[in-house]
Amino acid sequence: MKNIQNITNDLLYIGTSDRKLSLFEAVYPVADGVSYNSYLLLDNKTVLFDTVDKHCSSQFFENLEAGLNKRNLDYFIINHLEPDHSALIKKVVEKYPSVKLICNAKTKQMLYQFFEFDFDIESNFEIVKEGDVLSTGHHELTFVMAPMVHWPEVMVTYDKTNKTLFSADAFGSFGALNGNIFDNEVELNLNEYRRYYTNIVGKYGPQVNALLNKASNLEIETICPLHGVILKENISKLINLYTKWANYEPEINSVLITYASIYGGTQNGVEVLATKLAQKGIKNIKMYDVSMAHHSFILSNAFKYSHIVLATPTYNNCIFVKMEQFINDLVSHNLQNRTFAIVENGSWAPNSANAIKTRLEQLKGSKFIEDKLTIKSTLKTSQEEEVEKLANAIVESF
Ligand SMILES: Cc1cc2nc3c(=O)[nH]c(=O)nc-3n(C[C@H](O)[C@H](O)[C@H](O)COP(=O)(O)O)c2cc1C
Ligand SMILES: [Fe+2]
Ligand SMILES: [Fe+2]
Repeated sequence: MKNIQNITNDLLYIGTSDRKLSLFEAVYPVADGVSYNSYLLLDNKTVLFDTVDKHCSSQFFENLEAGLNKRNLDYFIINHLEPDHSALIKKVVEKYPSVKLICNAKTKQMLYQFFEFDFDIESNFEIVKEGDVLSTGHHELTFVMAPMVHWPEVMVTYDKTNKTLFSADAFGSFGALNGNIFDNEVELNLNEYRRYYTNIVGKYGPQVNALLNKASNLEIETICPLHGVILKENISKLINLYTKWANYEPEINSVLITYASIYGGTQNGVEVLATKLAQKGIKNIKMYDVSMAHHSFILSNAFKYSHIVLATPTYNNCIFVKMEQFINDLVSHNLQNRTFAIVENGSWAPNSANAIKTRLEQLKGSKFIEDKLTIKSTLKTSQEEEVEKLANAIVESF
């Protein structure tokens, strides 16, 4: 049966939710599922905004058909070509052969990479560029390019009439929709907004800033993203967060402790450090065992926290493998402006601190607490002074 909701009297939500998926994009655990949002505007002309993942094909077509209610589909706006939104493009064109595909030149070029067409699709394309306007009757839609706000071909569409931004992956979140499709009907889980943003587009801060700048010239009352709820009440809150994230500004002044530990020596070291930090007044300390927690949660908190402790055993004269992966994640997401403290451990030649520092020095605005802590197998009572010194140095760096 169709599963559709009205956003306004002429704009429908026709998207779907997936709670079977264990890893989004083959990497990210989504315990609360994920939604693939698609929208249908019923103006003098009918307009489809993006499709859904192939797993949700039957519900989507049921929704589309019911939403159109025997009308033809006139326009199909492709904001983003990643398969979680584009998987059904070919099927849509097969079903509605006269549909005009509204997309930019890059999207058209990439479309041929994803599909082989056994029919002539060339005449379906209507290529748009920045600022072009499409009138569908009562509504005027304009297109804003948003390269690398996830992929290079991404654009967003602004409905001037409704003051609605179809924002592609921007302002989306993990988490299926469960009946409630508007932000004022649910408690927003900002942790999941952050985990989604930082892992998926965190690397592209300058490009996100470019989109935020363009969006600041638009009057936006509603955001229709491709994942997560439709935003009305939390628009400025999310724009503020996006601005922080895009500029690599921490959200809180506190300490994220990340550690690896094979036998427990390093863990004991950071537990003692955490206690001292707490006793010195640091609140909201967060600690992750990098071997246990999924890296997407740790990276997300690295974007949130101002200070990051990395503690690791030496491993084949280098950094323990799981800690190395976390550091790679920080570097590949281009995290900036953080203060780092390092704890190294080793039973014969502790040697990981320098290797960590060399990697993190590549990141813009990195600062280092100079008093590193070296543990030889286990932290000794005689080293309490050293831990105290490290804790003080961290506190003084705020
Ligand atoms: C595969 C492997 C390689 C290691 N390589 C080194 C090394 O190159 N240098 C060193 O000093 N210790 C090395 N170690 C020992 C650990 O770094 C050391 O025992 C450390 O104290 C473990 O800390 P933990 O108690 O937090 O696990 C290695 C251990 C393993 C299992
Ligand atoms: Fe995407
Ligand atoms: Fe997406």
